[in-house]
Amino acid sequence: MKYVIAGTNRPGSRTRQIAKIVQATYQEAGESVGLIDLRDLELHGVTGEYGDKAPPAMKAMVEKLNQAEGIHIVCPEYNGSYPGALKYFIDHWKYPDTFELRPIAYVGLGSRFGGLRPIEHLQGVFGFRNAHQYPERVFIFDVSKNLKDGVLDPVYMQLIKSQVTGFKSFCRALQQAGLDANSRLAAKAAATP
Ligand SMILES: Cc1cc2nc3c(=O)[nH]c(=O)nc-3n(C[C@H](O)[C@H](O)[C@H](O)COP(=O)(O)O)c2cc1C
Repeated sequence: MKYVIAGTNRPGSRTRQIAKIVQATYQEAGESVGLIDLRDLELHGVTGEYGDKAPPAMKAMVEKLNQAEGIHIVCPEYNGSYPGALKYFIDHWKYPDTFELRPIAYVGLGSRFGGLRPIEHLQGVFGFRNAHQYPERVFIFDVSKNLKDGVLDPVYMQLIKSQVTGFKSFCRALQQAGLDANSRLAAKAAATP
């Protein structure tokens, strides 16, 4: 299963609305995908504990991503980068399992620069951790104008549809070639006595 991540925990966030639109776009394309909402991390209980000591909600989310066919991140711009809540979440992922060869797609949102900066920062992180990053990114400019009552401007809807279709093919091609994270993890497990 693929997962869409709503990359902030801000109450009433536009990111969550757009993540749900991305999820619905997969559904329309005949694929059911999960939604990971950083609201559910309950970060008021930030513990600073990692690995086995991390809170159960955090471990459960990371476990899902350790088996994800692909990860579609929807991310807002906060102070010229991506939200701290998302970095805290990513810092709980397991290397190499969650990251390496894991297919990732991005949707950015913001005002004047459409979330370009946070996505480029995420690309630095996931490049460092050897993920397969899908090159077709979507940037939603002036999000307060282009998203009204949960409805996204048709120009952006079209970009998301094209991205979802392309990312599905990208994930499938990597899987068929045995080059994605799940294939590599399965091969590693099979080779372990
Ligand atoms: C803490 C915070 C910092 C922000 N910083 C920026 C910024 O640096 N550049 C920008 O274009 N928009 C910025 N914005 C605007 C957000 O990108 C925009 O409001 C977007 O809807 C936020 O996503 P959200 O609704 O999911 O929280 C900021 C918003 C918040 C809440």
